[in-house]
Amino acid sequence: MGMFAITGITGQVGGEVARNLLAAHRTVRGVVRDVSKCKAWAERGCQLVSADINDAAALTDAFKDVDGAFILVPPNFDPSPDFSEARTLAAKLSSVLVAARPRKVVYLSTIGAQATRSNLLAQHTIIEQALRKLPVAITFLRPAWFMENFAWDVAPAKNGAIQSFLQPLDKPKPMVATSDIGRLAAELLQETWNGHRVIELEGPHRVTPTEVATTFANLLGRPVRVEAVPRETWEALFKSQGMKNPEPRIQMLDGFNEGWIEFEGKEVGSRKGKVGLETVLRTLIERDSAMKAVSSAN
Ligand SMILES: NC(=O)c1ccc[n+]([C@@H]2O[C@H](COP(=O)([O-])OP(=O)(O)OC[C@H]3O[C@@H](n4cnc5c(N)ncnc54)[C@H](OP(=O)(O)O)[C@@H]3O)[C@@H](O)[C@H]2O)c1
Repeated sequence: MGMFAITGITGQVGGEVARNLLAAHRTVRGVVRDVSKCKAWAERGCQLVSADINDAAALTDAFKDVDGAFILVPPNFDPSPDFSEARTLAAKLSSVLVAARPRKVVYLSTIGAQATRSNLLAQHTIIEQALRKLPVAITFLRPAWFMENFAWDVAPAKNGAIQSFLQPLDKPKPMVATSDIGRLAAELLQETWNGHRVIELEGPHRVTPTEVATTFANLLGRPVRVEAVPRETWEALFKSQGMKNPEPRIQMLDGFNEGWIEFEGKEVGSRKGKVGLETVLRTLIERDSAMKAVSSAN
């Protein structure tokens, strides 16, 4: 039975991909930056190899002799205005795949990778366009907004109010749980296909910021309001938080709010996951409480 090389295994989606493959009794090679931090994965039976995503030679070795490779590029919320980091990575990943020739690849892209207007997600557009030139079987998996992004809102929700850049507050947005992404990516890796395909994924139903606040309120047993962060304050706010180039992030938020960041096949064409908002928020609240308990014990 073949081997599957998984990048980002210490993160949200890559970890889920590996868990699902191991559960299906597949052999997993975790491609990590620091093998010493991955003891738990070794104990689960993963082979571990060291490769930074920017190290083409190490990545080529990691992707050799595998049935499938799962490629996750680390998030970059503050890219250079010309997206030079993504362009460099696109060229490196192309040379890696040509040299290593994994039998198939699942590339974790994003909703809106087909958008023609510039925004933060253009980083995935650039990489998709480069990989499309390769004679390798590639699935571009385009998930919606991760529900786990609400991890940042757990503490504010406990204080009674969350802030939203997604607006208007009653407009449903495509969102998905990372467990659904990992499950689907593992399934796709075990399929056989030719050439390139795009698969778009969102959760069971679209979610409004108001629903996020109500769900937090129900789970926490206290009122939680949601406030829209005024659009004209975003640039100064993001700069005050240390961002050098907030424009792509603002353009991405505009894209979601104005609706031009959407699936290529719209809502009707996307696959639907099983995991709903309540399940994800419950887990995030439990994780936050567990971390607070550990830090107060220390
Ligand atoms: N958040 C969203 O709403 C959303 C929506 C659509 C698509 N996406 C895409 O999903 C991806 C993020 O997925 P995620 O949330 O699962 O990521 P994550 O939890 O932030 O994990 C990032 C992973 O990348 C690894 N990593 C970081 N820098 C690396 C490097 N230089 N070389 C090799 N590995 C490196 C990290 O490993 P270490 O342990 O070594 O740090 C970690 O395993 C991004 O490509 C993002 O654009 C996100």
